[in-house]
Amino acid sequence: MSNENEFFVIKAKENGVNVIGLTRGTDTRFHHSEKLDKGEVMIAQFTEHTSAVKVRGKAVIQTRHGEIQTDKD
Ligand code: TRP
Repeated sequence: MSNENEFFVIKAKENGVNVIGLTRGTDTRFHHSEKLDKGEVMIAQFTEHTSAVKVRGKAVIQTRHGEIQTDKD
């Protein structure tokens, strides 16, 4: 399976979780910000345009490498 078919899931555990896509290549910058409310789920991939993702807020992130929860108190 190529990296481009790989997907991950973000489940928002509070309102206003931000899922931020960062550009691939020498210039690493934000190119997209998606706001999720509590209970909303986003399914996304790493693509030609997106090499990294930053999650801000309380959420559970599932990848094929496992599940991780953001720490927030
Ligand atoms: N247009 C973006 C892309 O094709 C859409 C996208 C894919 C995205 N994965 C993402 C946006 C992860 C934010 C986070 O790369």
